[in-house]
This record gives sequence, structure tokens and C-alpha cells, in this order.
Amino acid sequence: MCPLPLPAGAAPCSLIDGPVAKPKEGVPPIVEFQGVTKTYGVGTRREFTAIRDVSFRIDDLDKTGEFIGLLGPSGCGKSTVLRMIAGLAPHFPPTVGQVLVAGRVPGGPGPDRGMVFQDYTCFDNRTVLDNVAFGLECLGAAPGARREAAMEWIAKVGLDPHRDAYKYPHQLSGGMRQRVAIARTLILKPRIILMDEPFGALDPATRHNMQDLLVALWREVEATVFLVTHDISEAVFLADRIFVMSNSPGTIIRQFHVLSPDRPARLMQREPAFQDTVFRVREVLDGLKEGKE
Ligand SMILES: Nc1ncnc2c1ncn2[C@@H]1O[C@H](COP(=O)(O)OP(=O)(O)O)[C@@H](O)[C@H]1O
Ligand SMILES: [Mg+2]
Repeated sequence: MCPLPLPAGAAPCSLIDGPVAKPKEGVPPIVEFQGVTKTYGVGTRREFTAIRDVSFRIDDLDKTGEFIGLLGPSGCGKSTVLRMIAGLAPHFPPTVGQVLVAGRVPGGPGPDRGMVFQDYTCFDNRTVLDNVAFGLECLGAAPGARREAAMEWIAKVGLDPHRDAYKYPHQLSGGMRQRVAIARTLILKPRIILMDEPFGALDPATRHNMQDLLVALWREVEATVFLVTHDISEAVFLADRIFVMSNSPGTIIRQFHVLSPDRPARLMQREPAFQDTVFRVREVLDGLKEGKE
């Protein structure tokens, strides 16, 4: 059974594997979109509807968070969906419908929602340590406490606290910079992590390492994750559930429940069962490219 309302006329979801965790009782969904449409530049010559009638509901699960992968053709509105959850203007608020975070309309961005972008740039004039500690600094944490927490997170993302903490971003590889970006976001313990093609600029081996790191950290922080990616294997590997969006104006046309990762990325992604799932998702996306949806 498909647990979410899908837009009228949408095909039913494909159930590859059922979800395991149960929603907390009496707690509102962690994220809910109710018939959300976004039109940019309303009333101007540039008026453009990016997403139309997007509805979904992500439950607040007990002792875990759901990992949602967002796939769809370029320009279908994936980043718009993510930035709406973040409460960022001009994407938020929606033109029609409601975006709810933990049962409330968000007033704007907040520390409960952390974002990691592909080209997320750290502050070039700050060391790794000061970049990672930045959010705590903004929240007014004492210097000793934020240094200690930052050192802990530098280690958790696989950097060396002694060797790397005092480096500047230009002294780091792309993979290392993304580790800093992840540490900087997770140090604030967001309930929701929003990632927009975070590994898009990395080479395949680094990408696999980052995927494994993300799985380990996600299990530890128990947050709900939304990950936008162009890489179907990445979505199938990382996600519990994949939303496929239609061509522009985007709406969710399919969802797939997929198995959670239980082995390293480079091993699991070679297996025939995994590749079969990727193939099934790819067929839907290829159909979109041919203009069937
Ligand atoms: N701030 C904006 N103002 C006007 N149009 C926008 C804005 N942001 C995105 N768009 C348009 O909305 C559509 C969806 O964009 P986006 O959400 O970035 O898609 P995706 O991430 O799937 O590639 C695109 O056609 C894009 O040009
Ligand atoms: Mg995008």
C-alpha cells in the first residue's frame, strides 16, 4: 500500500520493500506538503510555475528518521521543494497549499533544518575549526564549548583534528570540504537535513566514501534527510524512500520504497538485486525524458 496521497492521475507507487519504523503516536508529521504549488514572479512577465500540486507526508519516526531521495529531470523543481522546507525566500512560502514542518508553517529558516549544497562554500578566511564552530558561535556558545564540539565533529566526519583543524578551505580537497560542510551542519543537531546534490562534484571513489560516511552519521543523529541527486544509484543506496518528480511543473509521480544500506557503497552497488532496483527507477526517469509524463 502506498502510504502517501499522490496527485490525481498519478500511477501507484512501486513497493520494493516496506518501511519498518512506526510513526510516533500523537506527533505531527515532521514534514508535510499539502497541495503545494509554487509560481515565481506572479503577475510579472516572468511568471513561471515550478512545481504543481505537490503533496507528501513524512512521519516523525521513532528512534530513526526517514531518508528521502528526490529524483527528477533537471528544472523539475527539486531544489524548490528543498528550499521550501528550509523556509528560504523566494521559494518559500508556496503560492498555493501549505508546507508544514513538525505541524507548523515555518517562519523562515531555523536551526532545526540544516542544508548542505554541492557548491557549499565554507568561509575562506576561517579555519576548518572556525567553519565547523560557526553555527554554535552564532547561537552564542562559549568558546571552549564550541571548540570542543567542533573538534569532535571534525573527527566524526573523518578529518584529523590535529592535522586538519587549522587548515583553510583552499588547502582541502573537494571531498574534505564537503566533510567540513557536513560537520558544520550536523554540529547543530538539526532534526531535518536537506542536501542538494552534495556529492555531485566528487569523483566516484570519494563519492562512495562520502555515501558511507553519510549513512553512519545519519544513523547516529536520527534525523530526517532529504537528498536531491542526479545519481540514481546514490538515491537507491541511501534512501528509504525515493520520490520521482515529473517534468516541469514538477509533481511527485512515483515513489519507491527501497532497502536501507547495510554494506559499504562500493560493495552493495555492484550487486545484481541493487542494480535491478536502479534499473526499475531508471526506466521511470527515462520515460520522463521521452516526454511520457
Ligand atoms: N528564484 C527563482 N525565480 C524564478 N524562477 C526560478 C527560481 N528558482 C527556480 N526557478 C525556476 O524554477 C524551475 C525549477 O527550478 P529548481 O527547483 O531549481 O529545479 P531542479 O532543482 O529540479 O533543477 C526552473 O525552471 C528554474 O529556472
Ligand atoms: Mg536543483
